Amino acid sequence: MPIPERLNPAFAPTRPQEPDPLPDPIEAARKRLIVALDVPGAAEALDLADRLNGSCRWFKVGLELFVAAGPAVLEPLIARGHSVFLDLKFNDIPNTVAGAVRSAASLGVRMMTVHASGGPAMLQAARAALDCLADPPQLLAVTVLTSMDQAQATAVGLKRSPSAQVELLANMGLAAGMRGFVCSPQEVAALRALTGPEGVLVIPGIRPAGADKGDQKRIATPADALRSGASYLVVGRPITQAPDPAAAAEAILKEMAEALAS
Ligand code: C5P
Repeated sequence: MPIPERLNPAFAPTRPQEPDPLPDPIEAARKRLIVALDVPGAAEALDLADRLNGSCRWFKVGLELFVAAGPAVLEPLIARGHSVFLDLKFNDIPNTVAGAVRSAASLGVRMMTVHASGGPAMLQAARAALDCLADPPQLLAVTVLTSMDQAQATAVGLKRSPSAQVELLANMGLAAGMRGFVCSPQEVAALRALTGPEGVLVIPGIRPAGADKGDQKRIATPADALRSGASYLVVGRPITQAPDPAAAAEAILKEMAEALAS
């Protein structure tokens, strides 16, 4: 399946007006790599961001860092010119999620997440909260966590396989007007077929060949995830816990660039 050209409109402000006739493949890969700053404090996060400054443009701030450091951690990342994905995976009643989404948007982040399992009314409320903004961040619905395998899914009462549940949630999200989704690399091809080129598919569970899986279950290599139709890859520990994070990021960018060019 061809890799979709469309990227998050959040990137538009920094994109040149005219397309580059000879796009640098590493640069194309860099626009699609999001590094998860899953660290316990602002000092560690900014140290990592600075070590990766030449390699990575997008950083994901998730629960561990946001709970420890609060919204103040976003400002120095944004001031350094990075795009921030705030991954707090909201899941609450529609009114509460709409308020949380509004508050998150006011922090200057360019992507944010809600759980698709919150249901269509919650997704519609989240969308409506962003609709009135001139340059809203990309809203993403998280389908089924990449750490969930069949045993975990069964334990929470799911009758379907994780893949079937992802498709059900994606169809529900599309009907609720969502265009952005988070899923595992193993479902990205099916979701790309459902969303078409307009879908913004953000894919965690990325492991270069031979890397430690950790708690992730439904994984793939950077190249395979891109070839299956991913818009963006989220990579945490394979970069952040590497002895040399910048070298690990460069190796992943090289693999991504080769996949994009093939
Ligand atoms: O370290 P690792 O590469 O496994 O990090 C993956 C990141 O993606 C984590 O920050 C995790 O919270 C996030 N994520 C995920 N699965 C989802 C949604 C987000 O692993 N379905």
